[in-house]
Amino acid sequence: MSTPLPSEARLIEAARLAFSKAYAPYSNFRVGAALLDAEGEIHVGCNVENASFGGTVCAERNAVAGAVVAGRRALVACAVYTDSPEPTAPCGFCRQVLAEFAPDLPIVCVTVSGKTWRTTLSDLLPHSFGPDDLG
Ligand code: THU
Repeated sequence: MSTPLPSEARLIEAARLAFSKAYAPYSNFRVGAALLDAEGEIHVGCNVENASFGGTVCAERNAVAGAVVAGRRALVACAVYTDSPEPTAPCGFCRQVLAEFAPDLPIVCVTVSGKTWRTTLSDLLPHSFGPDDLG
């Protein structure tokens, strides 16, 4: 059993509420994400799909946008909430976007039924390309 993330219960509840707002009429796969910043505030996102499918934006990336626009780039924990048989990790695109701000971000992935999987972004996206690579 891995160690709970900072403010984990609060983070999961925020992700669950974000999940309930997801706009996913095409895939019917709803996702809620919540990011805890270094000052203890939470920023949420849900997936927002589009009739032009490529316009879809994932929950995690919408949560990152919310944190950045709030002026909070120091991210310390993440929760991802889905209604799937097993917890699902952020997609590759979202991993890259999260890594911009927190390459070792702890992530808890939770299902509606309460299944929980804790991981880190550095496990999901090792040897990532990031701002330092641009010199
Ligand atoms: N989705 C997310 O919101 N986050 C992920 O990390 C994986 C996928 C969304 C995108 C799309 O609306 C739906 O889930 C199915 O791919």
